[in-house]
Amino acid sequence: MAEGSPTHRMTYGGYLRLNEVLDLQDGPEGYGPALCNDEQHFIITHQTFELWFKMVLRELKESHSILNRDHVEEKSLPQLVHHLDRVTEIFRLLANQWKVMETLAPQDFLAFRDKLGTSSGFESWQMREMEVLLGLENEQRMGGMDPLLHMKKLASEGKVSAKVLSDFQVTSNAPSLNDALCAWLARTPINGSLSGAPGDAEIIAAFVDGHLEVMERHGEDVIAHIVAIGHGEEAQVRPRIEAARIQAESFLKPEGVISRSRAGLLFIESYPELPLLSWPRKLIDAFVGLEQGMLLFRSAHARMVERMIGRRMGTGGSSGVDYLDATTKYRVFVDLWAVRTMLVKRESLADVSQPEFYGFAINE
Ligand code: HEM
Repeated sequence: MAEGSPTHRMTYGGYLRLNEVLDLQDGPEGYGPALCNDEQHFIITHQTFELWFKMVLRELKESHSILNRDHVEEKSLPQLVHHLDRVTEIFRLLANQWKVMETLAPQDFLAFRDKLGTSSGFESWQMREMEVLLGLENEQRMGGMDPLLHMKKLASEGKVSAKVLSDFQVTSNAPSLNDALCAWLARTPINGSLSGAPGDAEIIAAFVDGHLEVMERHGEDVIAHIVAIGHGEEAQVRPRIEAARIQAESFLKPEGVISRSRAGLLFIESYPELPLLSWPRKLIDAFVGLEQGMLLFRSAHARMVERMIGRRMGTGGSSGVDYLDATTKYRVFVDLWAVRTMLVKRESLADVSQPEFYGFAINE
C-alpha cells in the first residue's frame, strides 16, 4: 500500500466531513427549540456565503503570493489570471444567491429578527479581510472606518477569535494586492525602456507628454465636430473637454511628477495588440472584472435588504440600505477604472518604439 494511503475505503461523507458540516445548521449551541424552516434557511444561506468567502480569500492570497514580488515571471501571469477569474465567478454566483434569501417574506423574517440581537454581516471578518487584502483604503469607507481597530474591538468583546485577529493583522501589515499591482505596473517596459535604465525618465516623459498632446488634438476635433453638427455651443463644450485633459495630466503627473505605474498602465491599455502586453492586459481586465463582480454583489445585497426590511436600521447599527448603497461607491483599483477615461483611439497614437521588444517587428 502506498505510504499515506488510508487504511479504509474513502467515502463521500468521510472525504467531505459531511456529518460535521451538516450538524451546524441549527443555530448557536443552547439556542432552544428546533428552528423553524425560515430561520434554518437564513442560517444556511449565510453559511454558504461564508464558505465561498473562505475560497475567495484563499484564491486572493495565492494571487498575492504570485504578484507581491520584485520580479513577477511572465509565465506566472496566466495562473494569476486564473485565480482572479475564479473569484469573479464566485462573486457572480453570490450576486444571484441573494435571490434565495428573497424567498423569505419580510413578515417571516421579523418573526425571528429580534433573536439576532446586534449580530450582523457587518461583523463578517472574512469580508473585511477580503477588502483589506484587495486594498480598500480606509478613507473610502463610510466614516473612515478602520477595519483593524474594528477587528480589535470585536476580539476584545469575544466576537472574533485571537487567531482571526492575528491573521487579520498579518494581512493588514502586508502590501495589498492593489499595492503589488501598482509596483508591478511601475516596471512595465515603455517604448522598450525598462524602469531604472539610462534615459528611462526621458522616454517616459516623452510618452506621457505625447499622449496628452494627442488627447488635446482629439479634444479639438471633438469640439469642432459637436459645433459643426449643432449639438452644442463651443463655450459649453470646451470647458468639459479641457477638464478631461487636465484631469488626465494630474492623473499621469500627480503633483507634477510622472507616475511610472500609471504611465505603464496607460501604455498597456493603449497598445493591446503587442504580444508581450497581452497577458498584462488580461491581468488588468481580471482585476476590473473582479471588482465589478464584487460591486454587483454589494448592490444586489442592498436591493435584497431594501425588499426585506425597507429603510429600517441594520441589526449592526448602521443606517441599513443607505449604508449598503454607499459601499457600492467603493473602488479599490482606482487607477484601472480612471485610465479608461483618457484612452484615445489607436490610429491617433504614435507607433511604439522598438516593437520587436514586445514580440514582433513591423515590416512595412
Ligand atoms: C434577511 C437577510 C439580510 C438582511 C436584512 C441584511 C441586512 C444587512 C444590513 C442592514 C447591513 C448593514 C450593517 C448593519 O447595520 O447591520 C448588512 C451588512 C452586511 N451583510 Fe447583510 N443582510 C442579510 C443577509 C446577509 C447574508 C445572507 C449575508 C452573507 C454573508 C450578509 C452579509 C453581509 C455583510 C458581509 C455585510 C457587511 C457589508 C459591508 O460593511 O460592506 N447579509 N446586512
